Amino acid sequence: MTGGASGIGRAVTLSLAQEGCTVIIADIDGAAAERVLREVDGAGGKGEVSVVDVTDFEAVRGMMDAAARRHDRLDILVTSVTLPPKANWPGLMDASLEEIKRSFDVHTMGVAHCCKAAVPHMRKRGYGRIVNLGSLAAVLGGGMLGGTVYAAAKAGVLGLSRGLAREVAKDGITVNAVNPSLIETPRHAQLDDQPRARAVSRVPMGRAGTVDEVSAAVLFLASREASFVTGTSMAVDGGTTMH
Ligand SMILES: NC(=O)c1ccc[n+]([C@@H]2O[C@H](COP(=O)([O-])OP(=O)(O)OC[C@H]3O[C@@H](n4cnc5c(N)ncnc54)[C@H](O)[C@@H]3O)[C@@H](O)[C@H]2O)c1
Repeated sequence: MTGGASGIGRAVTLSLAQEGCTVIIADIDGAAAERVLREVDGAGGKGEVSVVDVTDFEAVRGMMDAAARRHDRLDILVTSVTLPPKANWPGLMDASLEEIKRSFDVHTMGVAHCCKAAVPHMRKRGYGRIVNLGSLAAVLGGGMLGGTVYAAAKAGVLGLSRGLAREVAKDGITVNAVNPSLIETPRHAQLDDQPRARAVSRVPMGRAGTVDEVSAAVLFLASREASFVTGTSMAVDGGTTMH
């Protein structure tokens, strides 16, 4: 579970642990990941912390290989990493080249690294579930809280998920994405009210979503029961993209 130390990743971690999974909370923020691990322990679940930077492929591969060795399997990969909210706002014309590269490194390459490192372990057992957190921004081209740079990096995640789904379709592995709109997370709560209110005003349901609402969608796609669902992206956006 990458990005498992905060927000949606934390909620998914707690839900997966409740379902009986041993969850590797893989995050760059070790202290926050340890706090989530204590929550998992407190609820009677099983977890471990792995401090990792998803932009470093060798580190990601080392983590996946070690986890698969320790537990003899790697059934589910959920990717939920992002930069702090304000770093996801710039448009292409306002962003520096470093900001653009950083967004692609963290959002797109990070997911590519995790999938590339996880699939060989899933192929070995002929079973796997991959769920990548995309974003409504990828579909709309930004315009709510995310800007062009974030939207482009997240569109990469959607293309990657669909393409990989095709590559591994005969291996018992499904690959799907979940596209949330504005979701209430502790980090978003620190943002100014005005952009949040603007974003919420575009949601037919007239509110932000909760991390548990996103987690429920992720859990379904990560379940055995979702065995015939692959290469799709599920909108969890209060109806924003309905047509
Ligand atoms: N919250 C929303 O409104 C929203 C909306 C649409 C999409 N999303 C997507 O959902 C996912 C989760 O978002 P969130 O709001 O819960 O995020 P969050 O900011 O609460 O958590 C992101 C986590 O990623 C970790 N992280 C950052 N850089 C890392 C790196 N290089 N390596 C490893 N870990 C790193 C952070 O430490 C943090 O724990 C993201 O992919 C985000 O783009 C969120």
